[in-house]
This record gives sequence, structure tokens and C-alpha cells, in this order.
Amino acid sequence: MIMMVLEIILGKGDNGNEIKWAPKNEKNPHFMVVGTSGSGKTETLKAIIHELSAGGVPSFIVDFHQDFDNVADNVLDFTNMTINPLEYAPETPEAAMYKVSNILKKIFVLGVQQEGVLQDAILSAYRDKGIDIKSMEKQDAPTFEDVKNVLENKAEYLKEEKRSSQTIETLLVRLRPLFNTGFFTSKKSAIPFKNIFAETTVLKLKNMPTEEVKYAIAEFFINKLKYELYARGKTDKMVLYCIVDEAHRLIDEKSPLNDLLRESRKYGTGVILSSQRPSDFSDTVLANVGGIIAFQCRLEKDAIFVGRQMGINFEEIKNLTEVGTGFVNLSSKNGNEKVKITPLWKRKGLKTVKKERKAEKPHETKQKEPAKKEEKEEDERSEETPAQERKKPIVLEEEDDAIYIRDEYRYFPPLLWFVRGMKAYFSSIKRGALFAVVMGFAYSFLEFRFAAAVTGVFLLSLMIAGFMRSRGKK
Ligand SMILES: Nc1ncnc2c1ncn2[C@@H]1O[C@H](COP(=O)(O)OP(=O)(O)OP(=O)(O)O)[C@@H](O)[C@H]1O
Ligand SMILES: [Mg+2]
Repeated sequence: MIMMVLEIILGKGDNGNEIKWAPKNEKNPHFMVVGTSGSGKTETLKAIIHELSAGGVPSFIVDFHQDFDNVADNVLDFTNMTINPLEYAPETPEAAMYKVSNILKKIFVLGVQQEGVLQDAILSAYRDKGIDIKSMEKQDAPTFEDVKNVLENKAEYLKEEKRSSQTIETLLVRLRPLFNTGFFTSKKSAIPFKNIFAETTVLKLKNMPTEEVKYAIAEFFINKLKYELYARGKTDKMVLYCIVDEAHRLIDEKSPLNDLLRESRKYGTGVILSSQRPSDFSDTVLANVGGIIAFQCRLEKDAIFVGRQMGINFEEIKNLTEVGTGFVNLSSKNGNEKVKITPLWKRKGLKTVKKERKAEKPHETKQKEPAKKEEKEEDERSEETPAQERKKPIVLEEEDDAIYIRDEYRYFPPLLWFVRGMKAYFSSIKRGALFAVVMGFAYSFLEFRFAAAVTGVFLLSLMIAGFMRSRGKK
């Protein structure tokens, strides 16, 4: 039997050679993308997700900023999913209590006393439902609403007794946004795992009230995902990738994401993490990934940390300037290779990408002819997935147009915008010719001050265009 090897094309190397990552060839299927803000991490993740899905492996994406709608088939939010973190199977209620309080302690930065009060309240909520906290017998668990009620009643009681209820009250204020989110309202979790293991799915957190609530939902979800993997059992086949952009906020020794990183491989699940702050990761996290892409890390601390892991001089990482260009390090190969990631909009087979690309060069259209049927099928599939239509990728007009990492800290910003505008505009010969004609006309037929005004307006518009590009707009 011929086994199809999952191979992800990352981009091009220095010599134009294709750089690929085959998860099964690595010591484990996990991957990490690191780099400063604006260096191309999210675009890299999108490209990988697209390739995974073309290779038949769906991704589950924890999306904090609504960056991934255009690569997803399903979107999950509190309108179609609920989680009850206090459901305890396959553990005891007591173990679930420790897990929940640990997550909330870390995310909401709770003090020792607050953590203790929260733990007691969770245990009381279980007992109020007649649940033995040491037993694994399956019963309906309490919800966060029940925990909130326990805390409120206790505060009321302490006030009546003229004792201090301050710890409980500050805890209630801290956790209020969490108690109020629609994700935790039901007794029973309703998570569409069937869809998650069938199609690329995004967990949409953008509209959650605070960053803490987003992180808490993500952690509780990942915990559920972990148990779902255990329930599905071990497999050699890759069945899912879990993608977490900005993962440094979620991962620590005790976090569900760390458990996933350590154990999910046996269950056919890979994890892809991205972060602007790689030095926040522990060495164990790094030891558990089979591949790393490092884009520019502007902070020396991060460049040093990543450089050490990849066996590369930190200056080389610090001095990368082109967006989407970095070093890739795979456990199956010695050393690092430079790679320019091919962004989603330059990859074949995505309708939103093709629609945005107005004029294709004639020779390209010809070359693509044999793949036409396949692409048409892709188109039809994309038609069924309105989520893909919601967010269009940003399209650069020229194939080999490079843009550079925002570095307004180092340069005078208007000058930087001007240079970027010039670069974008004059990358096409046609535009250069048009510019020559307009200026020729202006200086031949107009008075000098009008001609100078035309030039001024043109230069200003270039600067505005450069400014827009700096902000990641077209
Ligand atoms: N491989 C690439 N080729 C060309 N342009 C790219 C590439 N990757 C990213 N870009 C451009 O750079 C912009 C910023 O990239 P991206 O959003 O991926 O950065 P990021 O590292 O995720 O930043 P942040 O940490 O702020 O989220 C994109 O909007 C896109 O225009
Ligand atoms: Mg990003």
C-alpha cells in the first residue's frame, strides 16, 4: 500500500529551491513560528493551514483577532458552542477543580487567598449538587453560574456576620467578565468535535469582553480537546492540527497546551504555536517542537533565546528585515535554511486569492491550464464556505514584491513611508512609463509652479500609499 506523505511547502530558499516540511519526518509533528510583530507569523500559519487542508488534515485554530476566517470552513463562537469547564470526566471533580483554579489563577493573576476562596467555592458547588469530589461517578456538574452564586452567598453571609468579605468581592469583580460570557452557560458542554475533526475550524474569540476571558476560553477548550483525543484513541495517521497564534500567553508547565504538546502526537494531532515573545517559552516547549521558523526578533533577549535553540548567531535573527523571510530549522536536517514563505495569496487553489488577482500574466495562465479542473473543483468547494469570503487576503500586485518589517523605531517614519510607496509604485515598468509621461507633460506645458504642484501631489500620494502598506493594508 502506498502511503501519502504529508508535505507542506513553506516557501523558497535562497537559490529558488522549494523548502518543505514533512511532519512525519521530524522527531515530532509540532512546529513553531516566532518573530517580532509584523514579521509574517500569521500569514505563515495561514499558508500552512491551507497546505494541511489540501493534504487532507483539518486544523483547529484558536483565533484571538479574527485573522483566520478566510482559511476556515467552520467558525465556532458562543452561538454554536458551550463549554462547561467543571465537567470532570474522565477525572475526579477534585482534579477538575485544581485544573480550573490553576488556569484562572494564572490568567486572572489571582493571589493565594483568592485562589483558595475560588477552590472552596468550586468544591461547594460540586457538593451542593450532591457530587462526591473524590468519585468518578458521572453526574451533572455545576456551572460557573453556580460557583458565582456560592461566592455571592458567602460574601453576603460574611457581611451579615460583620466579617471582611473583601477577598471574595475582589475575586467576583475580577471574574465577572468570565462569569458573564455565553460560552459557559450550559451544564453540558456542546462542542462539535465531529466537525472539528472533519474540516478546518476556527474558535472565534475576538468579540470576547477581555483578553483574560479569551485566554480562559482557549485553555478550557484545549483541555476538552485533549480529553477528546484520549477518547478517540491512538493513531499513526495525522488527524488534526491545533494552531495557536500568540501562544506565549497560554503555555506554561501546567497548561493544557503544554499537555497537548507532550501527548497529542500519539493521537495523530500536531500543534503549531506562534509567538512574538519566544523567550517566554520554557526550554521544554522548544524541546517538543520538530520544526521552527524564526523571523526577525527585534528584542535581543528573544533573538538570543531563539538563536540558542536553532544554533544560529542571534545577530542573524535580529538583522532579518524582510517580511515573511526567516530561518527554518527542522529536526530531520542539520543546520538552518533561509526561507521566504510563499503567502496564501500566491498559492494555487484558493478562490478568494484568485478573485483578488486581477490581471494574470498570459504565460502564467497557460502554465496553469492542466490544473484547471482541480482548481474549478476547489472553487466549487470554496463557494460552500462563506467564512472564506468574509476576510479577503491582502494582495501585492507584483509577484516578487518584497515588503519590509515595520521599523519606524529606527528610521524617520515619513521617509520610510515614502520609500515604501516608491518601491510599490515603481515596481512596474508600466507605472514608471506613466509617471515619465505625466511629468514630461507637466514640465513641458505647465508653468513651473503648477508642474511643481503636480509633482508634490504625486509624492504625497506615494507617501500615503507607503503609510498604508506599513499598516499592512494594500
Ligand atoms: N510571506 C510574506 N510575503 C509577503 N508579505 C507578507 C508575508 N507575510 C506577511 N506579509 C505581509 O506583512 C503583513 C504582516 O504580517 P503578519 O500579520 O503575518 O505579521 P505577524 O507576525 O502575525 O504580526 P503580529 O505579531 O503583529 O500579529 C501582512 O499583512 C502581509 O501584508
Ligand atoms: Mg499575527
